[in-house]
Parts: sequence; structure tokens; C-alpha cells
Amino acid sequence: MTGRTSPAGVEHSGSTVGRVTTPSPLPDPVVRVPAPAPGAPGSGGLVDRHGRTATDLRVSLTDRCNLRCTYCMPPEGLDWLPKVEQLTDDEVVRLVRIGVEHLGIEEVRFTGGEPLLRPGLTGIVAATTALSPRPEVSLTTNAIGLSRMAPALAAAGLDRLNVSLDTLDRDRFKQLTHRDRLADVLAGLKAAKDAGLTPVKVNAVLLRGINEHDAVPLLEYCLDNGYELRFIEQMPLDAHHAWTRGEMVTAEDILAQLTAAHTLVPDVEERGAAPAERWLVDGTDLTVGVIASVTRSFCGACDRTRLTADGQIRNCLFAREESDLRTAMREGATDQELADRWRIATLTKLPGHGIDDPSFLQPSRPMSAIGG
Ligand code: 5AD
Ligand code: SF4
Repeated sequence: MTGRTSPAGVEHSGSTVGRVTTPSPLPDPVVRVPAPAPGAPGSGGLVDRHGRTATDLRVSLTDRCNLRCTYCMPPEGLDWLPKVEQLTDDEVVRLVRIGVEHLGIEEVRFTGGEPLLRPGLTGIVAATTALSPRPEVSLTTNAIGLSRMAPALAAAGLDRLNVSLDTLDRDRFKQLTHRDRLADVLAGLKAAKDAGLTPVKVNAVLLRGINEHDAVPLLEYCLDNGYELRFIEQMPLDAHHAWTRGEMVTAEDILAQLTAAHTLVPDVEERGAAPAERWLVDGTDLTVGVIASVTRSFCGACDRTRLTADGQIRNCLFAREESDLRTAMREGATDQELADRWRIATLTKLPGHGIDDPSFLQPSRPMSAIGG
């Protein structure tokens, strides 16, 4: 291929140095053709047109789940991806390897749906932690089954995990997830800590009329057990499109609840691309985070790229377009060709999610099929 276009629209021929002959007695001037910009097809990392570089890969390993959190799935579940469309374990590992070896991915997080439902999870984690340079490897899970799997995941090299837990009240848990599994989640959390998968982080989403008053009990439980709690503002990613801005429990509401019961001091540690704003609690070094994904978006510092369970690259949770690596891979694309497709898919990443824009359209895939 010749004359590829870099993000800045600069054409380059593929050779970095060329010579121009003139009749002048002076030495021939050397004309330098610009080297490919980072992220341009053929070289470098995952750079977009707004100057961000994606180094954090989220991989959804399945769209299935054993809970039905109301902000995510309808009680009857969804039409799951057909098996042939799902990447095999080897295909997942190949794409992760391309991300790490060719594209500068430094962190890999496995998500779902519920990643513990993926039979090959431990092997995928082991293959990822064996890559060089070794990425940080983490998991986002609802923790059902974790009490059994935590030791094997730790042995496979998993570094950390995040557990979704929105209430400590059994009835509200049932109401929110349509399943009576709170005890399994709490056992899973403890098993993760015992297996050394620390810091164990807890993700909580508060919903108006269900668990909106659970911020303080969740914080106290996490402080008592050594888990790092982060609240996430509910985003419009539910399969049934029921989200409304007015109904959402905002970061401000959450902080008001927390500060009524505890002293919070901003944690001055650099936030970087980490989305959580963190507070130190009651004069200790224990923290609580609030991810104001909607009201104080952090899109400008976003360093994420996403791979769905069916092999599509999404440059944003809210992207309306995907790049199909599965088909290209199954048709015989080389590592270099797949890396190029991934780079090109990154170029078009939008500057922000635009949830507050009147023209905002929710993505057609729900969170469970994208990966959080
Ligand atoms: N808004 C905010 N967070 C969500 N999660 C799932 N759906 C939503 C949503 N609509 C959370 C889950 C999980 C993480 C991957 O994202 O609770 O912890
Ligand atoms: Fe399952 Fe996570 Fe969706 Fe809840 S939020 S239904 S745990 S995929």
C-alpha cells in the first residue's frame, strides 16, 4: 500500500528518506519525508485524532450473565451471541497479544457480561500474563463463583479485580439483580482478598427508588473489610433504554450522602486517566471514589479501547461504529493487518460521549455486550 494518510492528513510514501538531484554544484539536498505519525497505519500505538493514546484494553469474554441488574439487562435476559460468532480462546489471546506486542497495550481488563462464566477464563488470563511486555491484568466480575475460582485466577497471574455490588440488603439485591445471590457475592469478595487479588475494588451503581440510600452502608462495609469502593454514575447503556438524566443518582447526590456521615478530604494523588475522583475517609488513608461518568466526564483523558466477545473493536463505550476483527482474522489476516485495522478504528474516536447533547443516541449494544 502506498500514500497512506496519517492522522494529521500528511501523505507519506513509506520510505523515510529520499534524494532530489539538482544541477547545482552544491551537495544534493536531502529531502526528509515525515516518518509515520504515531498511530498511523503501519506503525505505533492506538492514537486518535484528539491526541489520546489507548493503552488500556477491555475485553468482553461473554455477553451472558447470571444476574439481571436492572441498569443493564431485562429480567428475561437477552438474545445471546451465537457460539460461532464468539471468539475462541485462541482468537481472544491472539488479539490481546497483537494489542500488547504491536499496539502498546499496557493493561488488559477482562469483563463480560460475566467473565467467570467463560469456561476458558483461567487459561486466557495465564496466556495474557505470559505476554511480553507483561501487561497488568484485571477482571471485572459480579463475584458469583469467585469463591471457587479466586485461587486459580491468582495462580494464573491475575493482578486485581473489581466486583460489582450495589447493596448489602438481601431484598434490595434481589430486587435489583432479580436473583437471590448476595451471599455468593460477599463470599466471592472475601475469597478474592484471601487469594491476594488486591486491592479488591467494589463498583456500585445507585438507582433512584431502589438502592439510592445505600451509599453509607456500602462505604462502611468496604472500609471494615479493606475493599476500595467506587460509585459509578449510571450511564445510558441498559438494553431496554430506560435511562433518564433526571432519574440518575448523581455524583453530587452520592457525595452529599457520604459527607453527612463521614469526613471526606480530596485525595491529591494524580488522577491521570483513572476515572475515579477519590477522597480520603475520616482522616485515614482509606479511600472512596466517585466516577462521575455523566456529570463530569473524563473523556479527554480516556486511554481505553474495547474488544467485544464477537471480535469487534469499539473505540468508546458509546461508539456507534465497530471494526470487525473477527471476520478479518478468520479470512486469514496477518498480525500486522489486524493491528492496522485496530489503529484505523482508533483514529475516529470521538472527543466525548455527548450524553448531554440533544443529538445523543444510545449505542445499540447494551453494556453486557460491550464490556465495562
Ligand atoms: N452505568 C454505569 N455502570 C454500569 N455498569 C453496568 N452497567 C452500567 C451502567 N449502565 C457497571 C457494573 C460493573 C461495571 C462493568 O460497570 O456495575 O461494575
Ligand atoms: Fe451481569 Fe454486570 Fe450486567 Fe449486572 S451489570 S447484569 S452483573 S453484566
